[in-house]
Amino acid sequence: MKVAGRKMRTIWLAPDGKSVEIIDQTRLPHELVVARLACLADAARAIRDMQVRGAPLIGATAAYGMALAVAEDPSDTGIDEAAATLAATRPTAVNLAWALGEMRRALAGLPAERRLAAALVRADAIAEVDVAINRAIGEHGAKLIHRALDAKHRHGPVQILTHCNAGWLATVDWGTALAPIYRAHDAGVALHVWVDETRPRNQGASLTAWELGQHGVPHTIIADNAGGHLMQHGEVDLCIVGTDRTTACGDVANKIGTYLKALAARDNGVPFYVALPSPTIDWAIEDGAAIPIERRDPREVTHIAGWSEDGCRVEVRLTPAGSAAENFAFDVTPARLITALITDRGVCPASRDGLLGLFPERRQRGAA
Ligand code: MRU
Repeated sequence: MKVAGRKMRTIWLAPDGKSVEIIDQTRLPHELVVARLACLADAARAIRDMQVRGAPLIGATAAYGMALAVAEDPSDTGIDEAAATLAATRPTAVNLAWALGEMRRALAGLPAERRLAAALVRADAIAEVDVAINRAIGEHGAKLIHRALDAKHRHGPVQILTHCNAGWLATVDWGTALAPIYRAHDAGVALHVWVDETRPRNQGASLTAWELGQHGVPHTIIADNAGGHLMQHGEVDLCIVGTDRTTACGDVANKIGTYLKALAARDNGVPFYVALPSPTIDWAIEDGAAIPIERRDPREVTHIAGWSEDGCRVEVRLTPAGSAAENFAFDVTPARLITALITDRGVCPASRDGLLGLFPERRQRGAA
């Protein structure tokens, strides 16, 4: 996508051919800073500290992190240790384990001296595939937005609510939940996006709002608790969110608060769609209750960071010093609350049969 008219992705191989560059998302929307990842430790830190975040981008960064690790130590032990380090960074997004598995398969059996070249090729391919997958999600999902416009007798704008950031910043390019929005907007559909601020880290207010603004998509930031009110008053035509892990039966883990939006959508008859790239499906899990839910530093709840008028990052405490806080980063929305899944292979019901209809090869293979 474009930033100030210039084409950008979230991650790329640096011109030196041996380090990786990322957009440092902890600095957005206030500063566009490119950070360099030169070694495995840099990649692991970037994921853990959320300089990169969003399930598909976590996967792509882990793939490049493996390549950086192979440059340091191409032995079997080195690869095992690197995969373990990266796997421990964040628990919920299954794209991380998927990308590590892909990298291991690409390196297995190769002599040490050929591993670095193979790792770089495979990491680049994972990034390219992510872009293609998200473009396809955009094409399939845009049809739902066109349909919503028809349902309003073509009296736009189509009002879409989204949660967290599942845009191009959460992927290598295009995004998942926002890809259909970009496609429909580019095709001339009048639309407007309600952007949940997404406490505690505010990925909606800081990242989704920023990238929609860069692309010229009309949007309004709302407090997380406003969605139900808007739905009751007919101000939301559909919801589209992303996911960090979707079970084989269509339960979906996504940013904390997604479940409440799905409940409000169901109560108000608002379609609730979840957009996902195929590597986000965990075929080994059926029940969403089995998805590991990340718990992060309570400081993300008790404190809030922002930019002062004179351009300095400031962090202030919101809560009484003695009050305990908990920081659950994700929740699970059961398949029964989801109108449909938007995948790179098309749109399907959120169910085992729905997913297997699009991924028939999984009927034989089961978990992988
Ligand atoms: O904690 P984050 O910012 O990594 O959480 C991101 C989300 O919850 C996204 O909705 C999800 O990863 C889908 S990204 C296309």
